[in-house]
Amino acid sequence: MMNLKDEVTLGKLSLLNRVLFSGFLLVIGLGFCASGAQILMTHGMADGELGLTHKDIVYSYYGNRNGSRLENALNGKMKLKAPPEVNAVLIEWAHKGAPESEWNTIAPLINAHCSKCHADDESDLPRIEKLDIAKSMVKVDEGASISTLTRVSHIHLFGIAFIFLYVGWIFSMAEFNHTLKVILIGSPFLFLILDVLSWWLTKYCPHFAVAIIISGFGYAIAAFIMLTVSLAQMWLPRWTKKTKSEN
Ligand code: HEC
Repeated sequence: MMNLKDEVTLGKLSLLNRVLFSGFLLVIGLGFCASGAQILMTHGMADGELGLTHKDIVYSYYGNRNGSRLENALNGKMKLKAPPEVNAVLIEWAHKGAPESEWNTIAPLINAHCSKCHADDESDLPRIEKLDIAKSMVKVDEGASISTLTRVSHIHLFGIAFIFLYVGWIFSMAEFNHTLKVILIGSPFLFLILDVLSWWLTKYCPHFAVAIIISGFGYAIAAFIMLTVSLAQMWLPRWTKKTKSEN
């Protein structure tokens, strides 16, 4: 079907190149698992329950506009940071619009249960042990802030583009249906753009959350196929042996 004689294929690469490419692909594979876990632990917990759902995506980007940031955090991501009775007191306080007169009861609770992380100079978490910051958290939850989206967008676009450049380049040497190869190599870049674009759209309109889910699955599937096929063809005798008989 294809003339493989003068074409570089993964099975024909030198040991040196195969070790180099496999090392890279293995680390990238682990990286994908770690980012999956990271997504589950941050966005996945947005609604207070483990597991990534459509609702989590909407809460993360558009926000939960039924309540304040503080209240939503205490019902969601921060639910397990303090005992339920402390959460109840803090939520009640948020409900009342964070009255200053009750700060004397609230401050010790925050210091005891939240400051460990939130008063840490190293992190950029909101310093909720300060009354004005705590008060600012009591405004309606509008999801991801523009500054967070800008920061995460540029990191994603630059970082992931390089990952798919190399993963795609290695995979371009695989023996695989040509049309599918073009699709697998090209689609992650489109999904990446769609993903980042949909974060911004979801920030303003929750319907776009579906596009975030589609693009996430899209590049996860493309990456999985390219990684496994590339690794298999570099090491399994079916592809490496063929080389020797041809040479
Ligand atoms: C173990 C560390 C830790 C503790 C303890 C902790 N937090 Fe957090 N908190 C975080 C991290 C990390 C984030 C950022 C999570 C993210 O954006 O995904 C966060 C985010 C928040 C946010 C902002 C959520 C948003 O909408 O961006 C609020 C509000 C908050 N925490 C309140 C609290 C309160 C109240 C307590 C105490 C009951 C508390 N946290 C205890 C680590 C902690």
